[in-house]
Amino acid sequence: MTSPSSTDPFYEAYDRDDVAYGMTASAMLSAYLNQVGGEGDVYDLAAGAGRDTIALAKSGFRVTAIDISQRGLDRIAERSATDGCHENVNVICSDVRDVDFPTGTLAGVVATTMLDHIPSADAAVVWDRICQSLRSDGFLYAEVHTTEDPGCDQPPGCDSSRPVSETASAVVNYFRPNQLAQWAVRPESGLRILQYAERIEWDYTHGPEHAHGKAVLLAVRDGHHPDWLGQPPAFPRRPRPQA
Ligand SMILES: C[S@@+](CC[C@H](N)C(=O)[O-])C[C@H]1O[C@@H](n2cnc3c(N)ncnc32)[C@H](O)[C@@H]1O
Repeated sequence: MTSPSSTDPFYEAYDRDDVAYGMTASAMLSAYLNQVGGEGDVYDLAAGAGRDTIALAKSGFRVTAIDISQRGLDRIAERSATDGCHENVNVICSDVRDVDFPTGTLAGVVATTMLDHIPSADAAVVWDRICQSLRSDGFLYAEVHTTEDPGCDQPPGCDSSRPVSETASAVVNYFRPNQLAQWAVRPESGLRILQYAERIEWDYTHGPEHAHGKAVLLAVRDGHHPDWLGQPPAFPRRPRPQA
């Protein structure tokens, strides 16, 4: 009999009581939801066990969570029921490359470590579909592992002495410095960057202590200007005096 983990590399990570990646949503996405919010349909691509899905659903978006891990999607269903936001969550077990994207209608797309889990040529195709799917006030949040990651077989990551993630073998496409930003500023992407960072992150959400090299992008449709103050907010308005 085949074990679930032989067909799903993330089965064991999502089967734990202490589910991998935890329940804290991606920080820049959380800041966007708190400051800007919105309503409508959002795709969470490679949603995993749903930490971003749940935050989006609780903010009022209707979320379609897509992943190839049925165990991850089962945990999303459980968590959304516990959190009372299940009416806003739909799960689809599919490869992101097989997903039909609507044109110009999505309020947002979240891709937290998805574009790096598929080969580079496929990631470019999915990226174009994502960009074309966004409506005029839509947002995109994307995170990818970069060549700074200690699990990468290229420098500088391969020369790092930082510890490697237990799930590093699932990353097949490490982004070069500036690559995600370059994709975002291409005119055909139709995006405006709100915030972009390349950084080292220490991860305590699963397995032994380890580090990542990451690029993190928050963007909106070009021409859209939401009330975004940055993450963390740089110059927030002072509270208004009580009348
Ligand atoms: C590092 S996890 C991130 C999960 C989630 N986005 C988060 O940040 O908590 C990567 C996820 O990508 C999923 N994945 C990998 N390749 C995929 C593909 N081709 N289509 C859909 N999901 C995929 C895996 O099953 C896994 O859940």
